[in-house]
Amino acid sequence: MRERQGGTRMKYKGIIFDLDGVICSTDECHYQAWKKLADEIGAAGFNREDNARQRGVSRMESLEVVLEKAPHQYTQEEKAALAEHKNEMYRQLLANMSPADLSHEVKDTLDALRAKGLLLAIGSSSKNAPFILDRIGLGDYFDKISDGNNISHSKPHPEVFLLAAEYLGLAPADCLVVEDAVSGVDAGIVGGFDTAAIGYASTYHKATYHLKTFSDLLTIVEG
Ligand code: BG6
Ligand code: MG
Repeated sequence: MRERQGGTRMKYKGIIFDLDGVICSTDECHYQAWKKLADEIGAAGFNREDNARQRGVSRMESLEVVLEKAPHQYTQEEKAALAEHKNEMYRQLLANMSPADLSHEVKDTLDALRAKGLLLAIGSSSKNAPFILDRIGLGDYFDKISDGNNISHSKPHPEVFLLAAEYLGLAPADCLVVEDAVSGVDAGIVGGFDTAAIGYASTYHKATYHLKTFSDLLTIVEG
């Protein structure tokens, strides 16, 4: 623990946030785009339970979840084209986003965490993370960004969080990971991080903390 502003003791030195479904609701845009693709290729049974398994995992692994319900087999080349097509549909939804899609609660909480002296990073499997952060007005906000562009393994592998901690110059034990995905909580645990689960993962028993709302972080970080 270290002494911080006003003498308050902080449990952590840094916080690593997942992006989709934690900082903003792009998890819903992912679902809408995958659903459209599923309908186009006749994977009609694709549903929100399937979508839950796509949380935190890479684009190609997410595609495999849709293809489990497809009536056809696809070559690697065709799969790459399907993933690209989904990404185009997804980016069309992202293009409509603006700073209004960042909630006041999330922004105010981030500002308050920073004012407590905590370093803030993104740890996301998404290759669209920089674009999304720009859209919602957080392009230059985080101290460090670790995302789908710099990793070889997606969650539940801990690589994205380990890199984020390394970029911050902190040990995993000094960082809290905030996640809405079961795969993300598992990744945090394997990497040696405490985890705060929110949204879809908020009842996942393996998480260190269970958030009812984003601003609960403010009490968690105080030792
Ligand atoms: C994660 C999402 O944040 O990013 C996954 O939870 C998604 O569902 C992954 O597959 C990759 O996203 P993108 O934007 O690179 O296709
Ligand atoms: Mg997420």
